[in-house]
Amino acid sequence: MSRFSEPQDAAFRALNDSLSFDWRLGPYDVEQSRAHASMLAAQGIISAGERDELHRALEKVGRELADGEFPYAAGDEDIHMAIERRVTELAGRVGGKLHTARSRNDQVATDVAMFVRAHAYRALELSERVARTLVEVAEAHLDWPMPGYTHLQRAQPVYLSHHILAYCWMLVRDRDRFAAVVAASDALPLGAGALAGVNFDTDRSFVARELGFASVVENSIDAVSNRDFVLDYLAAAATCATHLSRLGAEIVLWSSEEFGFCEVSDAWASGSSIMPQKKNPDAAELLRAKSPRIAGHLLALHGVLHGLPLTYNKDMQEDKEHLFDAADTLELCLEAAAGMLASIRFSRENLSAAAADEMLAATDVADLLVRRGLPFREAHGVVAGVVRSAIDQDKALSDLTREELAQVSPLLDEEFYALLRDGAWLESKRSQGGTSLARVREQLERARAAL
Ligand code: ARG
Repeated sequence: MSRFSEPQDAAFRALNDSLSFDWRLGPYDVEQSRAHASMLAAQGIISAGERDELHRALEKVGRELADGEFPYAAGDEDIHMAIERRVTELAGRVGGKLHTARSRNDQVATDVAMFVRAHAYRALELSERVARTLVEVAEAHLDWPMPGYTHLQRAQPVYLSHHILAYCWMLVRDRDRFAAVVAASDALPLGAGALAGVNFDTDRSFVARELGFASVVENSIDAVSNRDFVLDYLAAAATCATHLSRLGAEIVLWSSEEFGFCEVSDAWASGSSIMPQKKNPDAAELLRAKSPRIAGHLLALHGVLHGLPLTYNKDMQEDKEHLFDAADTLELCLEAAAGMLASIRFSRENLSAAAADEMLAATDVADLLVRRGLPFREAHGVVAGVVRSAIDQDKALSDLTREELAQVSPLLDEEFYALLRDGAWLESKRSQGGTSLARVREQLERARAAL
């Protein structure tokens, strides 16, 4: 029997059916169904024989899904209905007992929590892999000077290792964010029923143990309406993708003829269909471009959930495509980032030529005057005058004469030239977290320990 007297409109079905994407929940749905059947038998709600029949059918369904041989049927609305239909085909009437004390509302929340947990864990591993690769790149270029930038203007010299480690710390934080997402998805929704709980003496802790959840969701209403763990995953993924985007953007710039700082290996580049000389850093460009897509998924799910009354609403079916695409995109980006970084080559010559720009020592000259008692703000003005004088005469700082210096400030003497000659501007950055080699070595130790 059906409550309905008319068949569903084809356009309604196209709108309503979720099988075209939620088939990806299949393995989780089989696993939770297995655990659910075990619990039903342990509680005496179904018999041990019925449990075994259900388990046998579920095992076959699991194999069919894994082998791509699952026989989908025209009427399957979503993966949950498809699996229950197939279990019933295989096991007979007892298949109809699988949905005892369960609703698709707590079922889908459970599948999605399992998916999030698995993929948060995967992202955790992959961000750690990228962070480790960054540590290796930093180690291999420990004392390679380069210009550090603000506003994309040369600012102060740093070691390449220091710059690379900045990205490493971002990835370490990403790793920790994904660990928090694993924790956020570690409470079992199943057992909430449609929204109010169920009319059977179930054992939710049993199911939680079977499925490896740390706890059960305390409130049945919260259990079916909560998608915080998806938002948490998307937020962590968006932040991580933004980090990869900044990294990709720098590699694109650095690969240009204009910078000439690095070259990605051929395995991570493509040519042009018309210009035979070209080698394009496509992987880095795509890392740069993918992040707004993930941030968009986060924003879209906030849109779906905002103002949504409790408890389950069909709107929530819209969590999946955002989640799935974000996970696919992020995992691919993380794998690509690790591969591209492992094989990238830097040009010591071009980096150090750019870092040898004397103008990068302007702050150091100012600090020289500060050590002689001049307030920093005044020293800043003096050095601005020196820089101006050099630029006006098209000279390097060290080509200014003693007389020209004296015109700007009586405090500028031989030490001005000595400072520029020694080029010790990197090693003088000995403050904690600074770019001097000793500090970078310290940082490397900490990064290794964090990983
Ligand atoms: N396909 C649905 C979803 O993804 C499953 C839950 C449907 N529940 C319901 N009561 N119609 O959200």
